[in-house]
Amino acid sequence: MPVTINTPLTLQSGLTFPNRLVKAAMTEGLADPRNRVTDAHSTLYRRWAEGRAGGLITGNVQIDRQHLERVGNVVIDASAGDHEIGLLSRWVAAAKSKGAAFIMQVSHAGRQTPKLVNPRPAAPSPVALGLPGGQFGEPRAMTQDEIRLVVEGFGRATRLAKQAGFDGVQVHAAHGYLLSSFLSPLANRREDDWGGPLENRARLLADCVREAKIQGGAAFSVSVKLNSADFQKGGFSHHDCLMVIGMLNGLGVDFVEISGGNYEQPRMMDMDGLEPSFEEPKHSSTREREAYFLSYAKSVQDRASMPLMVTGGFRTLAGMNAAVATGEADLIGIGRPLCVDTATPKKLLSGEIEAADRWESRLRIGPGIFGPNSPIKLIKALNGFGAQGWYYEQIRLLAADKPADPELGVLQAFLAHQRRETSGAKAWRAAMP
Ligand SMILES: Cc1cc2nc3c(=O)[nH]c(=O)nc-3n(C[C@H](O)[C@H](O)[C@H](O)COP(=O)(O)O)c2cc1C
Repeated sequence: MPVTINTPLTLQSGLTFPNRLVKAAMTEGLADPRNRVTDAHSTLYRRWAEGRAGGLITGNVQIDRQHLERVGNVVIDASAGDHEIGLLSRWVAAAKSKGAAFIMQVSHAGRQTPKLVNPRPAAPSPVALGLPGGQFGEPRAMTQDEIRLVVEGFGRATRLAKQAGFDGVQVHAAHGYLLSSFLSPLANRREDDWGGPLENRARLLADCVREAKIQGGAAFSVSVKLNSADFQKGGFSHHDCLMVIGMLNGLGVDFVEISGGNYEQPRMMDMDGLEPSFEEPKHSSTREREAYFLSYAKSVQDRASMPLMVTGGFRTLAGMNAAVATGEADLIGIGRPLCVDTATPKKLLSGEIEAADRWESRLRIGPGIFGPNSPIKLIKALNGFGAQGWYYEQIRLLAADKPADPELGVLQAFLAHQRRETSGAKAWRAAMP
């Protein structure tokens, strides 16, 4: 019998995904001003659970309140106690109500922390993001003690996630956040044990995984989200990625999710970045054009001893089934379609639909030079942030138990999101102990 998206998968930890479709991590922005889980998380994940994906991965949960990707992130830091475990348990109950595996993505935003949260974010080295718009501050180099606290933080989050009933944690080492920036020779210019050769640049990721494994134990799933490449000249390359996979093979990692890019080069959304493209994916087949990291996943698959989840662009039933049948991917990550139609996995699994919607192809601030391919950098960036804001607004509607609104304008969504982030940041600062 060929493997299809309906075939269950059991991992080394013993965790079983009832099918191969996994809701990829998507930041919810729904935490209260003290970065705690709210009822809105439960409403949202109950709806995603009803969509019947075999696995649900949370949006990034941060280990440090000064390093958020958004003010509405959930945080598990040293102040978390029984009360937070109680709130997390309610989230777990909703997400697991229909049998999906539920995994917490754990992260530290590093230099991609917005200025609204922290104008001087901690990073491997003082290398600022090359982005227009002034949304991000000047990073400062972390001390060795601060780096050790990050390892502790990943361990703490794992321990609490386990206590609250999560099935696993995913260490976020992709998309330019702290662990990903340590991997990058462009962002990491350190000359100590945490920088230089890949072995040093990957030390923080390896230590965080080891600590999570210690805190979670053998029967708790610890996975990693990793870039196939950063797609920047002189950045984390595909060769580096293959070497890191080799290191992770020996650490008991349950599965690896393959993605790519960062804020400067947002390849995870298949959007043109702001710098000249580098190490372009060579899309030789229709399937690889659809799932844009699939060509990379093949070489990762040859190196990896653990199963692979591949995320980015999967929309057609045929493309998903072919990827799992050929073994190029063991799990299929799906993100954006679930922001509008939460029942997408169920419809794909039953064959009711041949493909999920491709909203991304229609999201633009305007036509021509006002579109995503504008030669004007700021407009191009605005289209990217605008589309992102559109998905955030859809998630807010779902979490309020309302229907999504596909007619929402991109500019309107972007402005609404910006207003919410600014007022959210005020409330967040006021709640600071
Ligand atoms: C609204 C939104 C929020 C996201 N937040 C996260 C996140 O918190 N962590 C993460 O690793 N990726 C995040 N991503 C990226 C997705 O996990 C995924 O890699 C990307 O959307 C490509 O998959 P897709 O083509 O199926 O949407 C986010 C994407 C979207 C659209």
